[in-house]
Order: sequence, then C-alpha cells, then structure tokens
Amino acid sequence: MPSFTQKAPGKLYIAGEYAVTEPGYPAIIAAVDQFVSVTINQTVKVSRIRSSDQEISWKREKNHLLVSGPKHPFRFVLSAIEHTESYIQAIGKKLTDYQLTINSGLAHRNGKKYGLGSSAAVTVATVRTLLDYYRVKADQNIVFKLAALSHLTIQENGSCGDVAACTFGGWIAYTSFDRMWLKQFLQSEKNWLRLLHLNWPGLSVQQLMLPSALQLLVGWTGTPSSTPRLVSQVEQERKGREDAYRDFLKRSKMCVDKMIAGFLTQRPKVITRGIRENRRILSQFSSLFGLSIETEKLRELCRIAEQYGGAAKSSGAGGGDCGIVLIDHKTDSNAIKEAWKHAGIVPLELHVCDEHCKAKGCR
Ligand code: PMV
Ligand code: MG
Repeated sequence: MPSFTQKAPGKLYIAGEYAVTEPGYPAIIAAVDQFVSVTINQTVKVSRIRSSDQEISWKREKNHLLVSGPKHPFRFVLSAIEHTESYIQAIGKKLTDYQLTINSGLAHRNGKKYGLGSSAAVTVATVRTLLDYYRVKADQNIVFKLAALSHLTIQENGSCGDVAACTFGGWIAYTSFDRMWLKQFLQSEKNWLRLLHLNWPGLSVQQLMLPSALQLLVGWTGTPSSTPRLVSQVEQERKGREDAYRDFLKRSKMCVDKMIAGFLTQRPKVITRGIRENRRILSQFSSLFGLSIETEKLRELCRIAEQYGGAAKSSGAGGGDCGIVLIDHKTDSNAIKEAWKHAGIVPLELHVCDEHCKAKGCR
C-alpha cells in the first residue's frame, strides 16, 4: 500500500500581534523550517490517529466522527478530517479507512512547545495529506480556507495568521477576514462548502522578501504560553475602553504598514525601526490592558540583542515562548547567542522557509 506524507512549517509572528485579530489590520509573519508532518496509510475497517505518545480510533457516523480514546490531543486533526472529507465527498470521491500518523518537530525534546504554532501546522498538514491521499488537486487558497475553518471550529478567537503563514510559507503580510461575517454565513447558509470559492472580506496575504542585508535570530524563553487565554483577556479588558483599543489598532497598523513598505522597497532600516516601534506599541498596550506580553526573560532577550545592535521584540502573544531579532551584517550574532545562553535563553537554529530555504516541500 502506498503511503502519503505532507508537511507544514511552524511560524513566528514578526509584528502586528493582537491588532491582527481585527479584520483588515496587518501583521508580518514568517514560516520557519521546523515542521509537522502527517502520513496516511490505507487500512481496513477502522481508522486511527497516532502521535508519538497517543493513539485513538474513530469511525464515521452520519455527519460526524465517533471517536474512541482521548479526543482533546487530536481535536485540530479531527476537525481537519471532518472539514476536508466533506469537501472530498462533495466532489464525488468515496471515503476509506486509514491510519494517520503525526510527527511534530515543533516541541523541545523535553516535550515543551516552542510556540511555533503547532496546532495550525498540524491542521494544514492534515488537510494537505488528505487531499493528496484522495488525489484531489487543490490550490493553496482552498487549503488555507479548509484549514482556517477547521482551526476556527476549535479555537474561535484567533486571527488564523498562523494558518496563513504555514500554508503560504516565507514572509507574509497578512490581514484577517471578518470572523463575524464568517459566523453569520455559517449560521444562515447550509452549504458551508460554498465558502471555499468566495472572497472572504478583509482577508489578504501578500508574499514579502527580507532584504538580504538582514537576518533573523530567534531565542526561546523555555516558558510555554497560552495564546487563546491572552486574546480572551484582551476581549474582556477592552470593554468600556474602546477608544484606547481603537488607538492601539491605528498605531499598530501605521507601524506595520510602514514595515511592509520597507520590505517592498528593500530598506532594512525602515524594517528594524518598525520592529522597535511595534515593541513600544505592544508594551503600552500591555500596560493599558494589564497583560503580561513581555516577560522578564523576553525583556532580557531583547536587552541583550539591542546591546549588540539588533532590533528585538517578543513574538506572537508573548507571556513566554520566543522573541525575535533582526540583525544586519555588522552585528555579531554569536555574541548575542552566547549572552542569551548565559541568561538561560535558548537560541533556536531556525531559518525562514523563503526562496532560499533548503528544506524540501516547505512551500
Ligand atoms: O503566540 P502566537 O505565536 O500564537 O501568536 C499570537 C498572535 C496574536 O495576534 C496575539 C493572536 C492571533 O491569533 O493572531
Ligand atoms: Mg505564543
């Protein structure tokens, strides 16, 4: 029996966090060369999902999947199966039983996640492998929409920027679709598959290229963080303070738009200035709404990088996970990494999956 394997990369937010959860507000995100891969082998009578340490079996019952075993660790995979199989069935293919095996390179050997977006990557890798297994050709927009719908069903407050980064690869400028519009569509329209061929208001993905004078460094604080918890904290805290929130959105957009222009015109200084400005904007945002975005370790990570001339900030929701730094050729990257190690920060040897990426099949 042939086996089918596809993968999806992890991601790092570079700028525009939190504001990107609002439709039309941009973020810059990069896909990195650490992957989740999904393999499917046909089986008879029973379907299984396995990861390195868990396994469940499931069967189809009318419109849903009947699962034996712990559902929670595989909730994104199960949602991706439900959505992708509906699409596959709608185009007239017959469904079969199979074993689906997940291999994730997005966690440290001690089991702690780096915060590289493993749930988005496993969702995209599952959609891709299923399409391959059932021999359905679909472009990246369909993959993105199937993965975004699968992901939102499980975690409804995300921007899906992580899903976009691991679908499209490289550096992207991303604005999220209007989730209210999507919710209303799903409530009023029986055939959600129509969504795959519609324009989603607000959604945009633009590929960017980092100027060759710049290089990305990534440091890991070793503390995992919960993005959904931090995002729902913002939803609570902003109540009654809409003006301050709108002001944050406006400032973030202005900053990220300038950075995107810096990418498009290949001006390194405009981009590094933008990183520092976005850090200040996020810091004011976090004090205003009582969030802990920049932890002690993230602050130290940035302080060290800045001391050697890098432009640094937290990546993503913060509260732990990783920090990112852009440096130019004059900066001593080894000195930064050594100082990080002394401070208990782990330098991650990651590269962006752009046109120079050597990792096969990342885009
Ligand atoms: O911490 P991460 O890498 O999952 O990034 C979260 C980014 C937010 O803008 C805070 C949330 C989102 O869904 O975009
Ligand atoms: Mg995070």
